[in-house]
Amino acid sequence: MTYKEQIDPARVPSHIAIIMDGNGRWAKKQGSVRLVGHKFGVGSVRRVTEAAQIAGVKFLTLYAFSTENWNRPAAEVSGLMSLLGSTIESEIAELIKNNVRVKILGDGRLPESLRKKLMAAEDKTKDNTGLTLVLALSYSGRWEIAETARRIADEAAKGGLNPEKVDEELFASYMPGSFMPDPELLIRTSGEYRISNFLLWQTAYSEFYFTETLWPDFQAEDLYKAIVDYQHRERRFGMTSEQIQTK
Ligand code: IPE
Ligand code: IPE
Ligand code: MG
Repeated sequence: MTYKEQIDPARVPSHIAIIMDGNGRWAKKQGSVRLVGHKFGVGSVRRVTEAAQIAGVKFLTLYAFSTENWNRPAAEVSGLMSLLGSTIESEIAELIKNNVRVKILGDGRLPESLRKKLMAAEDKTKDNTGLTLVLALSYSGRWEIAETARRIADEAAKGGLNPEKVDEELFASYMPGSFMPDPELLIRTSGEYRISNFLLWQTAYSEFYFTETLWPDFQAEDLYKAIVDYQHRERRFGMTSEQIQTK
Protein backbone atom coordinates (compact mmCIF):
# COMPACT_ATOMS: atom_id res chain seq x y z
CA MET A 1 0.00 0.00 0.00
CA THR A 2 1.27 3.50 -0.72
CA TYR A 3 1.55 6.02 2.10
CA LYS A 4 -1.07 8.09 0.33
CA GLU A 5 -3.55 5.22 0.67
CA GLN A 6 -2.73 4.85 4.38
CA ILE A 7 -3.76 8.41 5.27
CA ASP A 8 -6.89 8.72 7.41
CA PRO A 9 -8.64 11.67 5.74
CA ALA A 10 -10.43 12.55 8.99
CA ARG A 11 -7.16 13.23 10.83
CA VAL A 12 -5.01 15.11 8.36
CA PRO A 13 -3.07 17.95 10.03
CA SER A 14 -4.59 21.30 9.13
CA HIS A 15 -1.17 22.96 9.21
CA ILE A 16 2.16 21.42 8.18
CA ALA A 17 5.37 23.42 8.49
CA ILE A 18 8.56 22.35 6.72
CA ILE A 19 12.21 23.25 7.23
CA MET A 20 13.42 22.58 3.70
CA ASP A 21 17.05 21.64 4.26
CA GLY A 22 19.84 19.93 2.34
CA ASN A 23 19.93 21.76 -0.99
CA GLY A 24 23.64 22.55 -0.68
CA ARG A 25 24.64 18.99 0.20
CA TRP A 26 22.47 17.63 -2.61
CA ALA A 27 24.29 19.87 -5.11
CA LYS A 28 27.69 18.95 -3.73
CA LYS A 29 26.90 15.25 -4.18
CA GLN A 30 26.25 15.96 -7.87
CA GLY A 31 29.44 17.98 -8.17
CA SER A 32 27.38 21.14 -8.71
CA VAL A 33 27.38 24.54 -7.05
CA ARG A 34 24.94 25.17 -4.17
CA LEU A 35 22.56 27.22 -6.29
CA VAL A 36 21.80 24.19 -8.45
CA GLY A 37 20.51 22.50 -5.29
CA HIS A 38 18.23 25.47 -4.59
CA LYS A 39 16.92 25.28 -8.18
CA PHE A 40 16.02 21.62 -7.80
CA GLY A 41 14.54 22.45 -4.40
CA VAL A 42 11.90 24.48 -6.24
CA GLY A 43 10.70 21.24 -7.86
CA SER A 44 10.13 19.79 -4.40
CA VAL A 45 8.17 22.90 -3.39
CA ARG A 46 5.91 22.36 -6.38
CA ARG A 47 5.40 18.65 -5.63
CA VAL A 48 4.77 19.19 -1.92
CA THR A 49 2.34 22.06 -2.47
CA GLU A 50 0.32 19.86 -4.79
CA ALA A 51 0.53 16.86 -2.44
CA ALA A 52 -0.59 18.95 0.53
CA GLN A 53 -3.67 20.08 -1.41
CA ILE A 54 -4.48 16.50 -2.38
CA ALA A 55 -4.18 15.37 1.25
CA GLY A 56 -6.52 18.13 2.40
CA VAL A 57 -3.98 20.20 4.33
CA LYS A 58 -5.22 23.77 4.86
CA PHE A 59 -1.95 25.58 5.68
CA LEU A 60 1.54 24.75 4.43
CA THR A 61 4.38 26.86 5.78
CA LEU A 62 7.76 26.59 4.07
CA TYR A 63 10.92 27.97 5.65
CA ALA A 64 12.58 29.39 2.56
CA PHE A 65 15.09 31.89 4.01
CA SER A 66 15.97 32.63 7.62
CA THR A 67 17.25 35.90 9.04
CA GLU A 68 20.50 33.98 9.72
CA ASN A 69 20.75 33.03 6.02
CA TRP A 70 21.68 36.67 5.29
CA ASN A 71 25.12 35.71 6.60
CA ARG A 72 25.75 33.33 3.69
CA PRO A 73 28.15 34.29 0.87
CA ALA A 74 26.76 37.27 -1.08
CA ALA A 75 26.61 35.31 -4.33
CA GLU A 76 24.43 32.59 -2.78
CA VAL A 77 22.13 35.19 -1.17
CA SER A 78 21.64 37.10 -4.42
CA GLY A 79 21.19 33.84 -6.35
CA LEU A 80 18.48 32.80 -3.90
CA MET A 81 16.74 36.18 -4.13
CA SER A 82 16.57 36.02 -7.93
CA LEU A 83 15.45 32.39 -7.80
CA LEU A 84 12.64 33.35 -5.42
CA GLY A 85 11.57 36.18 -7.71
CA SER A 86 11.58 34.12 -10.89
CA THR A 87 9.82 31.22 -9.14
CA ILE A 88 6.96 33.29 -7.79
CA GLU A 89 6.49 34.81 -11.24
CA SER A 90 6.50 31.49 -13.08
CA GLU A 91 4.25 29.74 -10.54
CA ILE A 92 1.62 32.40 -9.91
CA ALA A 93 -0.74 31.34 -12.71
CA GLU A 94 -0.72 27.74 -11.47
CA LEU A 95 -1.29 28.86 -7.87
CA ILE A 96 -4.28 30.96 -8.93
CA LYS A 97 -5.66 28.07 -10.99
CA ASN A 98 -5.36 25.80 -7.94
CA ASN A 99 -7.13 28.28 -5.64
CA VAL A 100 -3.99 28.65 -3.45
CA ARG A 101 -3.67 31.70 -1.20
CA VAL A 102 -0.07 32.93 -0.86
CA LYS A 103 1.08 34.61 2.36
CA ILE A 104 4.56 35.94 3.12
CA LEU A 105 5.85 35.82 6.68
CA GLY A 106 9.05 37.65 7.57
CA ASP A 107 10.72 40.92 8.52
CA GLY A 108 10.36 42.38 5.01
CA ARG A 109 14.12 42.92 4.66
CA LEU A 110 14.10 41.82 0.99
CA PRO A 111 15.23 43.45 -2.25
CA GLU A 112 12.57 45.93 -3.43
CA SER A 113 11.91 44.12 -6.73
CA LEU A 114 11.32 40.81 -4.92
CA ARG A 115 9.11 42.48 -2.33
CA LYS A 116 6.92 43.87 -5.11
CA LYS A 117 6.58 40.46 -6.77
CA LEU A 118 5.66 38.83 -3.47
CA MET A 119 3.13 41.51 -2.59
CA ALA A 120 1.57 41.10 -6.03
CA ALA A 121 1.31 37.34 -5.48
CA GLU A 122 -0.34 37.89 -2.08
CA ASP A 123 -2.74 40.39 -3.58
CA LYS A 124 -3.71 38.27 -6.60
CA THR A 125 -4.44 35.24 -4.42
CA LYS A 126 -5.90 36.91 -1.33
CA ASP A 127 -9.47 35.74 -1.96
CA ASN A 128 -8.52 32.15 -2.78
CA THR A 129 -10.10 29.60 -0.49
CA GLY A 130 -7.94 26.50 -1.01
CA LEU A 131 -4.55 25.82 0.54
CA THR A 132 -2.81 28.74 2.24
CA LEU A 133 0.86 28.59 1.24
CA VAL A 134 2.95 30.55 3.73
CA LEU A 135 6.47 31.41 2.64
CA ALA A 136 8.71 32.22 5.61
CA LEU A 137 11.19 34.64 4.07
CA SER A 138 13.78 36.58 6.02
CA TYR A 139 11.96 34.98 8.91
CA SER A 140 13.02 33.93 12.38
CA GLY A 141 10.98 32.87 15.38
CA ARG A 142 12.74 35.32 17.69
CA TRP A 143 12.16 38.15 15.23
CA GLU A 144 8.44 37.29 15.20
CA ILE A 145 8.17 37.19 18.99
CA ALA A 146 10.13 40.45 19.41
CA GLU A 147 8.01 42.10 16.69
CA THR A 148 4.86 41.01 18.54
CA ALA A 149 6.17 42.45 21.81
CA ARG A 150 6.95 45.70 19.99
CA ARG A 151 3.41 45.88 18.55
CA ILE A 152 1.85 45.26 21.94
CA ALA A 153 4.11 47.79 23.68
CA ASP A 154 3.25 50.33 20.99
CA GLU A 155 -0.48 49.78 21.50
CA ALA A 156 -0.13 50.01 25.28
CA ALA A 157 1.96 53.19 25.05
CA LYS A 158 -0.77 54.77 22.93
CA GLY A 159 -3.26 53.89 25.65
CA GLY A 160 -5.11 51.38 23.48
CA LEU A 161 -4.26 48.35 25.57
CA ASN A 162 -4.08 47.59 29.28
CA PRO A 163 -0.84 45.61 29.97
CA GLU A 164 -2.80 43.48 32.44
CA LYS A 165 -4.84 42.14 29.54
CA VAL A 166 -1.75 40.59 27.90
CA ASP A 167 -2.07 36.81 28.02
CA GLU A 168 -1.13 34.00 25.60
CA GLU A 169 -4.23 34.44 23.49
CA LEU A 170 -3.85 38.20 23.16
CA PHE A 171 -0.13 37.82 22.44
CA ALA A 172 -0.84 35.32 19.65
CA SER A 173 -3.41 37.66 18.14
CA TYR A 174 -0.75 40.36 17.69
CA MET A 175 1.72 38.03 15.98
CA PRO A 176 2.61 38.59 12.30
CA GLY A 177 1.58 34.96 11.72
CA SER A 178 -1.74 35.28 13.56
CA PHE A 179 -3.66 34.34 10.39
CA MET A 180 -2.62 30.69 10.72
CA PRO A 181 -3.27 28.01 13.34
CA ASP A 182 -0.31 26.36 15.11
CA PRO A 183 1.21 23.57 12.99
CA GLU A 184 0.29 20.09 14.20
CA LEU A 185 3.25 18.69 12.26
CA LEU A 186 6.75 20.07 11.67
CA ILE A 187 8.98 18.33 9.13
CA ARG A 188 12.73 18.83 8.71
CA THR A 189 14.67 17.20 5.90
CA SER A 190 18.38 16.36 5.53
CA GLY A 191 19.02 14.67 8.86
CA GLU A 192 19.44 17.84 10.92
CA TYR A 193 17.71 17.76 14.28
CA ARG A 194 17.14 21.36 15.25
CA ILE A 195 14.60 24.15 14.95
CA SER A 196 16.98 26.81 13.51
CA ASN A 197 14.88 29.70 14.79
CA PHE A 198 11.72 28.61 12.94
CA LEU A 199 8.22 28.89 14.46
CA LEU A 200 9.34 29.03 18.10
CA TRP A 201 6.02 30.11 19.58
CA GLN A 202 3.76 28.05 17.32
CA THR A 203 5.58 24.71 17.68
CA ALA A 204 5.07 24.48 21.46
CA TYR A 205 3.03 21.29 20.90
CA SER A 206 3.80 20.33 17.30
CA GLU A 207 4.79 16.78 16.43
CA PHE A 208 8.30 16.76 14.94
CA TYR A 209 9.21 14.54 12.00
CA PHE A 210 12.79 14.21 10.78
CA THR A 211 13.98 12.51 7.61
CA GLU A 212 17.45 11.95 6.13
CA THR A 213 16.10 12.77 2.65
CA LEU A 214 17.63 15.91 1.18
CA TRP A 215 15.06 18.53 0.18
CA PRO A 216 15.57 18.28 -3.63
CA ASP A 217 14.87 14.52 -3.36
CA PHE A 218 11.66 15.00 -1.33
CA GLN A 219 8.63 13.50 -3.09
CA ALA A 220 4.86 13.59 -2.58
CA GLU A 221 5.11 10.13 -0.97
CA ASP A 222 7.60 11.51 1.57
CA LEU A 223 4.99 14.04 2.65
CA TYR A 224 2.31 11.35 2.85
CA LYS A 225 4.70 9.16 4.89
CA ALA A 226 5.17 12.00 7.39
CA ILE A 227 1.39 12.43 7.65
CA VAL A 228 0.89 8.69 8.28
CA ASP A 229 3.64 8.78 10.93
CA TYR A 230 1.91 11.77 12.55
CA GLN A 231 -1.39 9.86 12.60
CA HIS A 232 0.26 7.13 14.66
CA ARG A 233 1.36 9.55 17.38
CA GLU A 234 -0.55 10.07 20.59
CA ARG A 235 -0.84 13.79 21.29
CA ARG A 236 -1.22 14.06 25.04
CA PHE A 237 -0.91 17.80 25.75
CA GLY A 238 0.32 17.10 29.27
CA MET A 239 -2.40 14.57 30.08
CA THR A 240 -2.01 10.82 30.57
CA SER A 241 -2.48 8.24 27.87
CA GLU A 242 -5.59 6.91 29.69
CA GLN A 243 -7.18 10.34 29.73
CA ILE A 244 -6.63 10.69 25.99
CA GLN A 245 -8.08 7.27 25.19
CA THR A 246 -11.29 7.78 27.16
CA LYS A 247 -11.92 11.20 25.67
C1 IPE B 1 18.16 24.76 2.60
O1 IPE B 1 19.27 24.11 2.08
C2 IPE B 1 17.79 26.00 1.82
C3 IPE B 1 18.09 27.27 2.50
C4 IPE B 1 18.53 27.39 3.73
C5 IPE B 1 17.87 28.47 1.74
P1 IPE B 1 20.74 24.52 2.51
O2 IPE B 1 21.23 25.56 1.58
O3 IPE B 1 20.79 24.88 3.95
O4 IPE B 1 21.53 23.15 2.26
P2 IPE B 1 22.65 22.49 3.16
O5 IPE B 1 22.13 22.42 4.56
O6 IPE B 1 23.84 23.37 3.06
O7 IPE B 1 22.86 21.14 2.56
C1 IPE C 1 17.19 26.60 8.08
O1 IPE C 1 18.17 25.92 7.37
C2 IPE C 1 16.61 27.71 7.26
C3 IPE C 1 15.89 27.30 6.07
C4 IPE C 1 15.59 26.07 5.72
C5 IPE C 1 15.43 28.38 5.24
P1 IPE C 1 19.71 26.23 7.57
O2 IPE C 1 20.44 25.25 6.75
O3 IPE C 1 20.00 27.66 7.31
O4 IPE C 1 19.90 25.94 9.12
P2 IPE C 1 21.22 25.74 10.00
O5 IPE C 1 22.01 26.99 9.87
O6 IPE C 1 21.95 24.57 9.44
O7 IPE C 1 20.72 25.49 11.38
MG1 MG D 1 21.08 23.79 5.63
